[in-house]
Amino acid sequence: MAQLHDGGLLRLGVNIDHVATVRNARGGAYPDPVRAALLAEEAGADGVTAHLREDRRHIADSDIDRLMERLRVPLNLEMAATDEMQRIALRHRPHAVCLVPEKREERTTEGGLDVLAEEARLRAFIAPLAEAGSRVSIFIGADRAQIEAAARIGAPVIELHTGAFCDLSAEGQGEAAAAELARLREMAALGAELGLEVHAGHGLTYDTVAPIAALPPVRELNIGHFLIGEAIFTGLAPAIARMRALMDAARSEGAA
Ligand code: PXP
Repeated sequence: MAQLHDGGLLRLGVNIDHVATVRNARGGAYPDPVRAALLAEEAGADGVTAHLREDRRHIADSDIDRLMERLRVPLNLEMAATDEMQRIALRHRPHAVCLVPEKREERTTEGGLDVLAEEARLRAFIAPLAEAGSRVSIFIGADRAQIEAAARIGAPVIELHTGAFCDLSAEGQGEAAAAELARLREMAALGAELGLEVHAGHGLTYDTVAPIAALPPVRELNIGHFLIGEAIFTGLAPAIARMRALMDAARSEGAA
């Protein structure tokens, strides 16, 4: 397992959900997300992320079985906080479990988890996962009260939602993007102060990764859709290598 609890290095988790989206468009076995995961591992990914959604629209249960069998880097299993998903996670005991809100009608994970609204339930939900050895991460908006609640329920990790920052950047709304980035910076620092390991992800591209990678408390980025899209044009390994290089450059510039 590479660089799990290193000092300042920034890990890259590659999300392979959308390889399964393409596979499922034809209902067969090709292209295989597990093959993509193994390729990502070879190309320098520090981990692989897969979201087993309640409606199984991309990743399937059998994908998780095969990822657990074949991956050498850690698997980060993204899932909703439901009894069914908890049973699956307890059976597999992946390295990490990232809890995300899930709505059937959404195209992708639209916001962070509302920890404040269900603090007691989530505290009870994550306890057996932690006991089983999975590091629980909470996907969360850059919101002080939510981050404090994540710390109170005993989650060791938060993943900050970078979707709004990426959308604003793509729309050319520079001022609003800068304000969102400032919020992410402040909330990443708060997470670290509270003793949480801070990750970030959603919507990141070559154009938006650098300022997020440069935030010192951030230890891991999870990136999927853009890398799988880029793989169509350049191949998955070169896309991962370029993302990795942008992350490393931003990190060392930030440290300089
Ligand atoms: N992190 C979390 C918690 C997510 O839900 C997702 C999307 O599944 C990602 C990261 C990756 O986002 P994207 O596919 O937009 O890079």
